[in-house]
Amino acid sequence: MASQLAVITGATSGIGAAYADAFAQRGYNLLLTGRREQELGALAARLAQQYSITADLQIGDLSDPRELQALVDTVTALPALDALVNNAGYAEDGRLGEIAWEKHRALLDVHVTATTQLSHAAMPRLLQSKGILINVASVASWLPTTQSVLYGPTKAYVRSFTESVGLAYRHEGLRALALCPGFTVTDFHSRMGIDPDTFYKNKGFTRAWTAEQVVSQSFRDLDKGRLVSVQGWNYKLLVFLIRHLPTRWMHAALARSSSTRFTERNP
Ligand SMILES: NC(=O)c1ccc[n+]([C@@H]2O[C@H](COP(=O)([O-])OP(=O)(O)OC[C@H]3O[C@@H](n4cnc5c(N)ncnc54)[C@H](OP(=O)(O)O)[C@@H]3O)[C@@H](O)[C@H]2O)c1
Repeated sequence: MASQLAVITGATSGIGAAYADAFAQRGYNLLLTGRREQELGALAARLAQQYSITADLQIGDLSDPRELQALVDTVTALPALDALVNNAGYAEDGRLGEIAWEKHRALLDVHVTATTQLSHAAMPRLLQSKGILINVASVASWLPTTQSVLYGPTKAYVRSFTESVGLAYRHEGLRALALCPGFTVTDFHSRMGIDPDTFYKNKGFTRAWTAEQVVSQSFRDLDKGRLVSVQGWNYKLLVFLIRHLPTRWMHAALARSSSTRFTERNP
């Protein structure tokens, strides 16, 4: 059987890099995307050598419409595709109107437009291969993120979109999953100026998990036919509570907390 191909956005670090490793381990060839060419190239070279696969790169900023279109064109032209992981993402600190519209637009384009357009471009090939579509949302998809105003809403879109597409094509063999991590040890928070050494906890209700744990859980959930994957007892409990307790209790708790700003510094 010819090798399978996985396309992974934001593969340079964190969850995307863990997916690149996991798909390479399973024998998939890779097309990896991101902006940091040197780091991405080093990862691709390591995986190609370690797992005897091919790993190609497409460098581009998904908030740039021309660079997104170039990746969409590449995906559309692929003769076969077995997995697409829309993982690229970040949080932009700021309430509506506090930061320039350009920053809000960029986040909307990376989380919403790129995820939707790349999924659309990939769908014919994914249906042919009965392949995998993984879109990275967040536990924040169930939470208002008052101080990073578009983060929660865009991740809610990603989760809902993935559930819709997954259910629509379930009987045609598509395996779709909305990955909803809680705090995960990656470059995500350090990019925002947060000190990872003090921010990530290894126990308790806010404990952080590794990207590898999050990715392993997602493959287990895909095998069980689930549409949503949440890693860790703490985030499973949090999501259960959010979904089953009255919404006004969550709003009251959030209103009382001093901040839901992602960049809140530890003392
Ligand atoms: N870490 C957490 O606690 C957490 C929790 C819930 C959800 N998530 C989600 O998980 C996903 C992966 O994040 P991560 O935690 O692994 O953080 P990360 O290590 O910072 O990885 C983010 C990836 O996205 C890429 N990326 C960011 N902006 C991009 C842009 N404009 N164009 C193209 N690529 C871009 C980055 O690559 P380049 O820098 O090379 O472009 C990088 O590979 C994100 O969607 C994030 O929202 C993370």
